[in-house]
Order: sequence, then C-alpha cells, then structure tokens
Amino acid sequence: MTDASLPLLLYARRFRRIAELTMREIPRPVTRKTLPGPSKHRLSHWQSKGLIMRVRYNPRMVRGWEGEKVRLVPIDMDRHLDNAVTWMNDPNTSAHLLMGDFPITRLAEREYFEAHSKGSKEDVMFAMETLDGRHIGFCGIHRIDFRHGTAITGQVIGDPNEWGKGYGSDAAKVRARYAFEVLNLRLLLSEVFEDNERSLRTLEKVGYVEYGRCPKKYWVRGRYVDSILVALDRDRWLSLNP
Ligand SMILES: CC(C)(COP(=O)(O)OP(=O)(O)OC[C@H]1O[C@@H](n2cnc3c(N)ncnc32)[C@H](O)[C@@H]1OP(=O)(O)O)[C@@H](O)C(=O)NCCC(=O)NCCS
Repeated sequence: MTDASLPLLLYARRFRRIAELTMREIPRPVTRKTLPGPSKHRLSHWQSKGLIMRVRYNPRMVRGWEGEKVRLVPIDMDRHLDNAVTWMNDPNTSAHLLMGDFPITRLAEREYFEAHSKGSKEDVMFAMETLDGRHIGFCGIHRIDFRHGTAITGQVIGDPNEWGKGYGSDAAKVRARYAFEVLNLRLLLSEVFEDNERSLRTLEKVGYVEYGRCPKKYWVRGRYVDSILVALDRDRWLSLNP
C-alpha cells in the first residue's frame, strides 16, 4: 500500500461504517406515532396487554389495515411470492380451495402478482400478516362490481399449523370493514365446500349467512361435493358492528 492510498482506505472504511449504521434498524422510542396501524387506541391496547416493552419499530413494515391479530397489506413480490408458490402447492391447503389441486407454477403466480400489483379496480388482493409482520396468508375481495355494490371474498392461511388461532376470523372482519366502509360495497358473497367447517364457522362469526347450496357442484379428490353459498350484507354487518 502506498502513502497516497492510505487516505482513500480510511475514507472507504469510514464510508462503510456510516453505511452499516444507516442500514441497521435503529430502535426508536415507542410512541403512538411509531406504532403500526391507524388506531388511536393502539398504544393503550398494547400497554394493557403488557406488550409495549417488546414492541420494536420496524421501518420496513408496511402499514396496512389492522385488526386485533392481523394486518392486511398490499401484496409484494419480494415479501410474499415465495410463500404463495409454496402454500398453493401444498395439498393440505389446496384441498379446501375452489381452484383445486392444480399445480401453480412460479411463473403463473408471478404473473398473478404482477397483474394484482397494478391497482386493479375489480380485485383487492391483500397479504395477511401478523401484527409483528410475519406473512401467514392472503385475503381478497374479488370481482368487485361497483354498479351493484357486490364482490366475492376469499382467504387462505398457508401453513396448517397457523389454522385455528383466530387469524382468519380477524382478517375477515378487517376485510368486511374495508369492503363496506372504504369501497362502499353493499353485499359480500362467498362459496365454501360443504365439508370446510372451519371456513364456514369463520365466515359465520363475521356475520355471513347461508343463502343457498348447490348440490354436487365440485369434483374433489374422487367425489362430488356441495358448494355452500354465504353472504354478508352491509346492513347486517352494521347491526353487528354498531
Ligand atoms: C379457513 C381459514 C381462513 C380460517 O382461518 P383460521 O384462522 O383457521 O380460523 P379461526 O381460528 O379464526 O376460526 C376458526 C373457527 O372455526 C372453528 N372450527 C375449527 N375447526 C372446526 C370444525 N372442524 N368444525 C366446526 N368448527 C371448527 C374454530 O373453533 C373457530 O371458531 P371459534 O372461534 O368459535 O372457536 C383457514 O383455516 C384456512 O386458510 N384454511 C385453508 C384454506 C381455506 O379453507 N380457505 C377458505 C376457502 S373458502
């Protein structure tokens, strides 16, 4: 190393140190402003649960529509695509999905992400994350018809180990609020296989009611199954959520 290159080396080291400091997540004091989510009650909610000391501000966390357990955020190729490919090809999960057990290629999923990342007026596709930013599923409002105020809802939690923890019910509540209050929709429709009791119960808890049944509509793994049609209208939702 020559004398002339020494200042350059010191400068490079200093630059690297500054870059490291800047890239690192710098913990900030927890205030109402730094907490994720729009709720003004959030601070006291977290305090009452004794969670406040464990909260760490994460500058990369996307703010979204927040419930008690989950947050619905825009889909993101980097954060959510890999999980989508894994989950949609898991037979434990695809057994319950209307689209069935067809293999979903990375290319097809990528194209779906691209199409739904451009602000479609017909579909609102959210990724479902826990409040600490862990991706657990997807939750959507599809085939939106603003003229009639209708849409079709669907959701999936990818890892069966995460089922039954209240995430799906919470996500469906947040989604209903978004559909009625933000999109000004009037009627949400959904369709469930007759044996998907967990999904039916989840929707029932939010207020959906059965309005029909189509016998033997789908061929699922060796037999025909009925499809149960459920709906949630805004008046009912408002009466349950005054
Ligand atoms: C359906 C799904 C989104 C529900 O989310 P979840 O987080 O598992 O559901 P929750 O924990 O919020 O609520 C499940 C409810 O169903 C109940 N439940 C679970 N298994 C049940 C069963 N076999 N029969 C009746 N009720 C059942 C639970 O007790 C709970 O009700 P409770 O709170 O009154 O006790 C999730 O399980 C999932 O993604 N499943 C696979 C994909 C799927 O089915 N998607 C929907 C396609 S229409």
